[in-house]
Amino acid sequence: MQAYSDARFPAVTVVGHPLVQHKLTLLRQKATPTAEFRQIAREISLLMAYEVTRDLPLDTVTVETPMEAMEAPLLSGKKLCFVPILRAGNGILDGMLDLVPSARVGHIGLYRDPATLVPVEYYLKLPDDIPERLVVVVDPMLATGHSAAAALTRLRQAGAAQLRFVCLLAAPEGLAVLQDEHPDVPVFTAAIDRCLDEHGYICPGLGDAGDRLYGTK
Ligand code: URA
Repeated sequence: MQAYSDARFPAVTVVGHPLVQHKLTLLRQKATPTAEFRQIAREISLLMAYEVTRDLPLDTVTVETPMEAMEAPLLSGKKLCFVPILRAGNGILDGMLDLVPSARVGHIGLYRDPATLVPVEYYLKLPDDIPERLVVVVDPMLATGHSAAAALTRLRQAGAAQLRFVCLLAAPEGLAVLQDEHPDVPVFTAAIDRCLDEHGYICPGLGDAGDRLYGTK
């Protein structure tokens, strides 16, 4: 199945590729052990990176093959910066770097203030040339959308002009928040699930992505 959009969320691309869907099902299964979960997360994120880079602009350059000179395409301009939202975002970073090894990496850490429920930044490290790069924010789970929206806002303040967001699973509630706060940011996900439960977990989901990646529960 090709990538497709959802009528409710025009900025969203659902990546329907059979390998993505197969790997997502393996991630959902609660019996999948930590090491396997981590490996599959790496594989599926490589495929998500393939989709999110599909429209990168190309220049034409002259190259000398061993046979003759030719005009050939090469990525144009400054390239990519991946920004995982700590900690689960790190679990889908390496697969993306497998595909785009020259990308720069920034990190953003946010926690939710237990009293106000507002996301609070505790870590931020970005490359200096972030305004010239396509910035791809990554987090496996788009649940309430508040961390993702706060991360995108902070990256804009830091000068990021071209932003995209990649997750593996999205809740409609989180997509609505992103659509409201960042309608111009394209979102890529492997699936849109039914809803959030009362604790903010995606249903049917895959559980806590950080715990499943790092074996902390
Ligand atoms: N974060 C997770 O890891 N899982 C969810 O279902 C929601 C947020």
